[in-house]
Amino acid sequence: MSMANFCPSKFLLSLFLLVWTATSSSVSGDRKTYIIHMDKSAMPAPFSTHHHWYMSTLSTLSSSSDGIAPTHLYTYTHVMDGFSAVLSQAHLDQIRNIPGHLAAYPDTIGHLHTTHTPKFLGLKKRAGIWPAAGFGNDIIIGVIDTGIWPESESFNDDGMPPVPARWHGICEVGTEFNSSHCNKKLIGARSFSKGFKQHGFNISKTKDYDSPRDFLGHGTHTSSTAAGSRVQHADYFGYAEGIVVGVAPMARIAMYKSLFFHETDLKSAATDVLAGMDQAIEDGVDVMSLSLGFPETIFDGNPIAIGAFAALKKGIFVSCSAGNSGPHAYTILNGAPWITTIGAGTIDRDYAAHITLGDNELTVNGRSVYPENLFVSEVPIYFGHGNRSKEICAPYSLDPKDVAGKYIFCAFVNDGLVGFTRQLNEMNRTGAAGAIFSSDMGKFLDPKNFNMPYVTINPKDGELVKNYMTNAKNATVSIKFQIIVLGTKPAPQVAFFSSRGPARQSPYILKPDILAPGVDILAAWVPNRGWQRIRDQYLLTDYALISGTSMSCPHVAGIAALLKAIHHGWSSAAIRSAMMTTAYLYDNANGIITDMDTGAAGTPLDFGAGHVNPNKAMDPGLVYDIEVEDYINYLCGLNYTSNQIRVLTGTSNFTCEHANLDLNYPSFIVILNNTNTTSFNFKRVLTNVADGSSIYRAMVNAPEGMKVVVQPATISFAGKYSKAEFNMTVSINLGTDASPQSDYIGNFGFLSWYEVNGKHMVRSPIVSAFALESSKHNNRTKV
Ligand SMILES: *[C@@H]1O[C@H](CO)[C@@H](O)[C@H](O)[C@H]1NC(C)=O
Ligand SMILES: *[C@@H]1O[C@H](CO)[C@@H](O)[C@H](O)[C@H]1NC(C)=O
Ligand SMILES: *[C@@H]1O[C@H](CO)[C@@H](O)[C@H](O)[C@H]1NC(C)=O
Ligand SMILES: *[C@@H]1O[C@H](CO)[C@@H](O)[C@H](O)[C@H]1NC(C)=O
Ligand SMILES: *[C@@H]1O[C@H](CO)[C@@H](O)[C@H](O)[C@H]1NC(C)=O
Ligand SMILES: *[C@@H]1O[C@H](CO)[C@@H](O)[C@H](O)[C@H]1NC(C)=O
Ligand SMILES: *[C@@H]1O[C@H](CO)[C@@H](O)[C@H](O)[C@H]1NC(C)=O
Ligand SMILES: *[C@@H]1O[C@H](CO)[C@@H](O)[C@H](O)[C@H]1NC(C)=O
Ligand SMILES: *[C@@H]1O[C@H](CO)[C@@H](O)[C@H](O)[C@H]1NC(C)=O
Ligand SMILES: *[C@@H]1O[C@H](CO)[C@@H](O)[C@H](O)[C@H]1NC(C)=O
Ligand SMILES: *[C@@H]1O[C@H](CO)[C@@H](O)[C@H](O)[C@H]1NC(C)=O
Repeated sequence: MSMANFCPSKFLLSLFLLVWTATSSSVSGDRKTYIIHMDKSAMPAPFSTHHHWYMSTLSTLSSSSDGIAPTHLYTYTHVMDGFSAVLSQAHLDQIRNIPGHLAAYPDTIGHLHTTHTPKFLGLKKRAGIWPAAGFGNDIIIGVIDTGIWPESESFNDDGMPPVPARWHGICEVGTEFNSSHCNKKLIGARSFSKGFKQHGFNISKTKDYDSPRDFLGHGTHTSSTAAGSRVQHADYFGYAEGIVVGVAPMARIAMYKSLFFHETDLKSAATDVLAGMDQAIEDGVDVMSLSLGFPETIFDGNPIAIGAFAALKKGIFVSCSAGNSGPHAYTILNGAPWITTIGAGTIDRDYAAHITLGDNELTVNGRSVYPENLFVSEVPIYFGHGNRSKEICAPYSLDPKDVAGKYIFCAFVNDGLVGFTRQLNEMNRTGAAGAIFSSDMGKFLDPKNFNMPYVTINPKDGELVKNYMTNAKNATVSIKFQIIVLGTKPAPQVAFFSSRGPARQSPYILKPDILAPGVDILAAWVPNRGWQRIRDQYLLTDYALISGTSMSCPHVAGIAALLKAIHHGWSSAAIRSAMMTTAYLYDNANGIITDMDTGAAGTPLDFGAGHVNPNKAMDPGLVYDIEVEDYINYLCGLNYTSNQIRVLTGTSNFTCEHANLDLNYPSFIVILNNTNTTSFNFKRVLTNVADGSSIYRAMVNAPEGMKVVVQPATISFAGKYSKAEFNMTVSINLGTDASPQSDYIGNFGFLSWYEVNGKHMVRSPIVSAFALESSKHNNRTKV
């Protein structure tokens, strides 16, 4: 077994979220795929549509040295005005000179990011947001992903009303896919592969489907998480058996496949993702879910940022995964302020094995997600007495003859995943029947890593087992696998892999926005592709347990669908504000949500405003709303040029007179450099979204070294939709320890508005962080 076969969590293949670092790959010679932004108002009169104009422009380009004509891929109507095409450098130079050309970017490649959760989220059939929202009735969620497995029980349309008349989407015909595969749950399915193919990837070679059908399972998983129908008896090899249901079970799903499998990985071309988002807007989706990411470049060079801005203008809510590059600071993806950026948290369910040593002498519980309902009774257990290298199952320390048919016990190695991987390799090499590992790595392992019958126990229990082993003459062990543990504490925790703020491209807005379940999430899978390998076999499954911010993103898309079903007129910013200001901060052990990596309390740079709480989000009292113009003023504040803003926002009707980095966001971040004392002013406007008039009082919790003044401290609202403004000054005194290594990074407090004689409480985090330049040597955020 090589490291490539076994991929422990920190290098986990099954952790989904794609970011490929290569920015563009050559098609042939100097021909490359480009995304060309055009100014439609420069279109000459004879053309009836901008598509005709682009096609005509391409046909008139003089042929390049290799004599190959340009190839048109897509014309974009909603996400931007323009098109994508394969062009030589000479073609590109000519296009750059035609009137109406605004900008050109080479195509980039993005990668994928990867049910008990409705219960964990507090969703109830007869109370709260579920019945209030009609379970998401008639809201359409567009999922940009790897496709969908339409036959999955999670997409059955039992009891769904007819497809909304406003829907324009279609079900595309392709490899093993036709219009009969859609129903009243899956109402649209399309596939966008032109850009992928131009990068030299051959879909039939990789065995992916050239159609909306899902090859890898990721899109089936995310879609069913957001809006899967109720299914009885779903399970993962006997674990987690029970009812599986999506967050918005009455919402509709439309799949826009723009991610394809290539070699070992999923890839997507920016051109295809833009085409998918363009089509989703055209078709009339209400919410978009994107569990993928491109390298975090300037926003006008990032397809998701561009597509999401167009969606914003149409009132479409866009949920994106924050990335799986944690736990270091400044690792956020999809950090544009008009996107809702979702981090991943754990849930209160775990997978265990019960160990009995000898004749009931000692019982211990450990972690195992081994997918067989296995009970091993009194098998001999081997421990390398007195020889350290044997005790820790070091490479080539064990003799296969000694361990054949036995379980091995491997003592703790203080060497992280590397050491643990070596032990696993030794277990495999020697053909031991199974193993007990004393290791603190257990919680970092993905379900998929449990491809042999082993269990990890914490090093403290490991000492007990070791004592038993060294004293017993003829040690045996009995192990019961496949035990589910509910109510584990603490939960939620911030998943170790979840990307952390601030956002590199726009640190003046706190990211991630919020935390949602993203660890060991059970949802629908493709039934024909082996998921879990056991010995020489791949086991097939209809439902898979997966981790990643890819999994947390569709939870929030589903919640947004529920909120839209209740509050039709709310903007995307209002929906996000409702979720953020009602999020919770305390775990089920009554402490601030901790970081799984360190076990220490997390900060808003890890969990944003906290963990999403859908029932509370339904009735937030007040919201911080944001208009399209405000985002433009923010881009001006970031010093984007007029042309960049035009490319990104699709409008040229703006000025940068009101350039402003202080967006009306429901969170506050102060970016520090090496000065000792700094003072920052924020101005915010609150909108009352509850019925009637109300009065709210500000309450501030600020840590030492942070002084917060709110003015006025009491605000009143005349009625529904009335607005009130306040100012807040945050002064940070770094004292003499103003180094980026100081404890002031991620130092945080809260501003909470309490309704006087009412039930609403509107809370926002206030957090400080060092600027990227000065935090180079600081990987960790700290309270
Ligand atoms: C065990 O090792 C063999 C030989 O190197 C390898 O082919 C196999 O994939 C490994 N088994 C597991 C479960 O990783
Ligand atoms: C679609 O394909 C299925 C088989 O997968 C077939 O039974 C059905 O007749 C096809 N429908 C159409 C409209 O072609
Ligand atoms: C793609 O791969 C298939 C199967 O290997 C092959 O038959 C086909 O010619 C390839 N197509 C291109 C364009 O390379
Ligand atoms: C420990 O075991 C290894 C592998 O069996 C062996 O090479 C080594 O000599 C042993 N060391 C001692 C001190 O017995
Ligand atoms: C050790 O245990 C095994 C399994 O319980 C048993 O078959 C064997 O006789 C025992 N040997 C001794 C020496 O007690
Ligand atoms: C924008 O440019 C101005 C003037 O050069 C500068 O003072 C300011 O710091 C810049 N803002 C950002 C966010 O870089
Ligand atoms: C341009 O923006 C202004 C102010 O926002 C607005 O009043 C005007 O209608 C806009 N013009 C066009 C052509 O959209
Ligand atoms: C550091 O912060 C101060 C106060 O906000 C500002 O004046 C200064 O330009 C900043 N320096 C750098 C290097 O960003
Ligand atoms: C907030 O501060 C600005 C500038 O200092 C001031 O003009 C405005 O009146 C203040 N607003 C409130 C509500 O206090
Ligand atoms: C700022 O901190 C430095 C040490 O980092 C100290 O030398 C200096 O006196 C401090 N300045 C003020 C104004 O407190
Ligand atoms: C911080 O990250 C860098 C690479 O990004 C790494 O070389 C360094 O070891 C890390 N430092 C700590 C303390 O983790």
